[in-house]
Amino acid sequence: MDLVRYGVIGISGIGNLHCRLARKNTNTELVALADINTDVVKKKSAQWGVHGFTDYRDMLDAGIVDAVSIATPHHLHAIIGQDCLEAGVHIFVEKPLANRVSEADAMIAKAKSRNLKICVGHQYRTHRSSKVMKQLIDNGNIGKIMRVLWTWIEFRPESYYARDIWRCTWRHAGGGVLMNQASHDLDLICWMIGKPAQVSAFAGSQLHQAEIEDMVCASVVFENGAFGSLQFTVNQPKGYNIRQIAGDKGVIIMPDAQSLTGDQDEQILVGRYKDPLPVSISRLNGIAEQPEMIWQPVELPGTAKKRPRKFWGWKSEKRVEKKPRGLSVLMNSFIDAIINGGEPEVSGKSAHPTVEFINAIILSSVRGKTVTLPVDRDEYDALFDELRTGKTKLPTYSEGRF
Ligand SMILES: NC(=O)c1ccc[n+]([C@@H]2O[C@H](COP(=O)([O-])OP(=O)(O)OC[C@H]3O[C@@H](n4cnc5c(N)ncnc54)[C@H](O)[C@@H]3O)[C@@H](O)[C@H]2O)c1
Repeated sequence: MDLVRYGVIGISGIGNLHCRLARKNTNTELVALADINTDVVKKKSAQWGVHGFTDYRDMLDAGIVDAVSIATPHHLHAIIGQDCLEAGVHIFVEKPLANRVSEADAMIAKAKSRNLKICVGHQYRTHRSSKVMKQLIDNGNIGKIMRVLWTWIEFRPESYYARDIWRCTWRHAGGGVLMNQASHDLDLICWMIGKPAQVSAFAGSQLHQAEIEDMVCASVVFENGAFGSLQFTVNQPKGYNIRQIAGDKGVIIMPDAQSLTGDQDEQILVGRYKDPLPVSISRLNGIAEQPEMIWQPVELPGTAKKRPRKFWGWKSEKRVEKKPRGLSVLMNSFIDAIINGGEPEVSGKSAHPTVEFINAIILSSVRGKTVTLPVDRDEYDALFDELRTGKTKLPTYSEGRF
């Protein structure tokens, strides 16, 4: 296939950007869009000069697309995704891949059996700060990871949920801050650190009227033995976000991380011990003697005035590039995978642990227990049914409830 015939499903929000990115890719022809909103279909199909459908199934039946973006509310990702895969169409699913890990399992199995690609809209992985942090970890600069401290803190007023009701119901959104905002961060955590093995969490609603969570506090042990403390909330304006990843040879810190919504000029500091901690633990004699440590800032590629230096095996790129970032990188890698083989930069398989992690946090919070992964699919599906029908609600914390 030389030219991928492209469709976008769900277009009034981020779907419009997917139309733009598909149009921009020279190996793609944007041919159709679909949305249940008739006015939107009329307006956008005229604007893009493409076929418009009010039922995506008619678009699939017409046989005019090889690949689509799915930019609808969360609960439709799995349903529409399965229909597209069944029709032999590659899918670029906006985040999250699915609300439930059982749905994600089925999507990945279907794509594999049909030899089709799944790309997922976790574009934070393409940001320079994420890439640099991952590179520092993968190159062994901080050694074996022992500890992660990570927050995503922002503010959303009640009107955010009032505008789009789907964002505040279990049925549609599959969760609150976890599914909607922090899914990007949880994806980064799984990508950088690895899969979680055990999760113990609290999730609640402190300020908002909605049934889904606006505050989450989770403790996690990863498969590689690292411990993590995570907080996510939409209850604090101007939150100073923390990212700390500590290993036995050093520490990576983002002292005031932005929300990472865009590719920001983040400040990253790396501290490195003169000797690895297992050596210092046995060698240092004084009761409070501290290992020697050197701190250095890491310049992100593309921001430095002069050429950034080499830094413990991590060699940054020159300043000159003005590379596409974010969703455009994912779109390009998706199209490339369809035409040339291989996997998109965020494949369905690589985004699968993120859904499972979120399910584990919700299961732990609502059932009040430590969850060992893999998440029991039947148990989570049963819980999710209770949440979406209102039979079970988020716990209230009598002392802590506002
Ligand atoms: N990657 C990112 O940073 C990012 C940013 C924003 C949104 N998103 C994700 O994109 C998705 C859409 O979010 P949004 O903010 O654009 O939402 P939105 O509510 O603004 O738009 C959703 C669109 O889907 C349409 N739709 C609903 N049901 C449909 C159906 N059955 N068939 C076809 N169209 C249907 C709606 O009419 C609407 O036009 C969500 O999954 C969200 O999490 C990702």
